[in-house]
Amino acid sequence: MKLIESPLALSDALLIAKGRHRACYQHPDHPELCIKVHLDPYDDLETIREVRYFKWLHRRKVNLKGIADYRGKYPTTLGMGYVYELVRDYDGQVSKTLDHYLKNFELTEPRINALTSAYQEFKQTFQRHYISMMNLKAYNIVYKRESESYGRFYLIDNLGSANLLPLSYFFTSIATRTLQRKFMRFESLVRERYHFSINS
Ligand SMILES: Nc1ncnc2c1ncn2[C@@H]1O[C@H](COP(=O)(O)OP(=O)(O)OP(=O)(O)O)[C@@H](O)[C@H]1O
Ligand SMILES: [Mg+2]
Repeated sequence: MKLIESPLALSDALLIAKGRHRACYQHPDHPELCIKVHLDPYDDLETIREVRYFKWLHRRKVNLKGIADYRGKYPTTLGMGYVYELVRDYDGQVSKTLDHYLKNFELTEPRINALTSAYQEFKQTFQRHYISMMNLKAYNIVYKRESESYGRFYLIDNLGSANLLPLSYFFTSIATRTLQRKFMRFESLVRERYHFSINS
């Protein structure tokens, strides 16, 4: 007998944040997970593309350190829900985006050091495992505070490539060059928009 899954009830009380396309909710039963639903249910192509790449990475058992992993989909009262790891700080708070820190943080020397070394580690992980991403944005990275003075970056959105079968998934030399371009563009974007040198 097949049990019919009743949709998960999502309410405003569970809302973490909204992006331009998706709203991100705390999973009602699992504090370590979040569920993303589309603001426009017909605008889900980006997520489908991203999920396809996650499945490809899972099959190849690629190390996903630095990425909020995808855990599957589940119907909700607000439409199809896509379940991901929810990134939390050491004190249990939901981690905030890099954009938030660059806009609202007084950038003292220890904080600058924490952000720049988190960035170096993040960049190395993608380069070491040839992981593809779309254009990198400071609001699509969260900074997980692991202590008062130390943290890590996690990509929470825009993994994979826009192409159906991107060459960068199969050729490490192409992946390396594409990633290099993405990171350089991101570094100059952060310099222009936030007057911050993340690569120093
Ligand atoms: N895994 C996560 N852990 C912690 N916070 C998250 C996570 N995923 C999303 N968020 C929060 O929810 C916001 C919206 O999520 P997301 O970036 O997936 O939406 P989107 O609409 O696809 O974004 P965009 O505007 O970049 O297209 C993020 O900017 C972030 O603040
Ligand atoms: Mg986003």
